Amino acid sequence: MSAYVEPTLLPSGSGSTGGFVVTRSSAEETVALRRAVLRPHLTIEQMAVTGDRNPDTAYLAVRPADGDRTVVGCVRLEPVPCPWPQALQEPAHVAWQLRAMATDPGVRGTGLGRLLVEAAVEYVARRGGDLIWCNARLSAERFYLRLGFAPVTTPFPLPDVPEDHVGMVRRVLDVERPSEAAPQLAGVKIERPSEAAPQLGGGAR
Ligand SMILES: CC(C)(COP(=O)(O)OP(=O)(O)OC[C@H]1O[C@@H](n2cnc3c(N)ncnc32)[C@H](O)[C@@H]1OP(=O)(O)O)[C@@H](O)C(=O)NCCC(=O)NCCS
Repeated sequence: MSAYVEPTLLPSGSGSTGGFVVTRSSAEETVALRRAVLRPHLTIEQMAVTGDRNPDTAYLAVRPADGDRTVVGCVRLEPVPCPWPQALQEPAHVAWQLRAMATDPGVRGTGLGRLLVEAAVEYVARRGGDLIWCNARLSAERFYLRLGFAPVTTPFPLPDVPEDHVGMVRRVLDVERPSEAAPQLAGVKIERPSEAAPQLGGGAR
């Protein structure tokens, strides 16, 4: 089953999973959830992220499939070169950054985070991307591990977030073969501490 529903396919319902559906959204539609979950100390205005107006930047949102517009989870995707090319055994040709990963506390543990990541992988694959990377909060590292990401840096701090992050990557394969996408971590090696390059802008806002 497809995790992501292209707008042109709506309202087919083919992308709904467990009564929820992932579609392309916007910075505006997702900002309340992003702020509440990721940056409660910032104002709505301060939640703007460089690149939000890039036409290639995409916010995906998960909502109830019954037409309720409430956003209960989101993720942001933008084509940005991987900051750790030296950590990849095979070069990435078109890398996308995943950030702003958040689900409403009331729905956590029900598979919506997984659904969003699977939708993100599908979204990137359809656009020719071959790698997804993220600055993962250490508290979310195991979540990303479960979703097929591998750590490629040592922990590092980012502004405005009171916990360290770790750089993580996931290769993207053919969108028609999503079941084969997860285990392909052979192209990734863990950086030695001396190789870490944590000078990234922005966390998972
Ligand atoms: C991280 C987050 C997005 C996970 O969302 P979720 O809706 O609970 O995720 P799911 O229910 O789909 O869980 C997917 C898998 O990851 C596991 N998982 C989820 N959160 C986890 C965590 N913090 N630690 C370890 N495992 C975790 C689940 O057990 C599940 O495993 P399984 O499918 O193999 O049984 C959510 O907890 C969140 O919004 N956290 C706060 C914001 C945050 O830290 N975002 C990431 C910033 S880098």
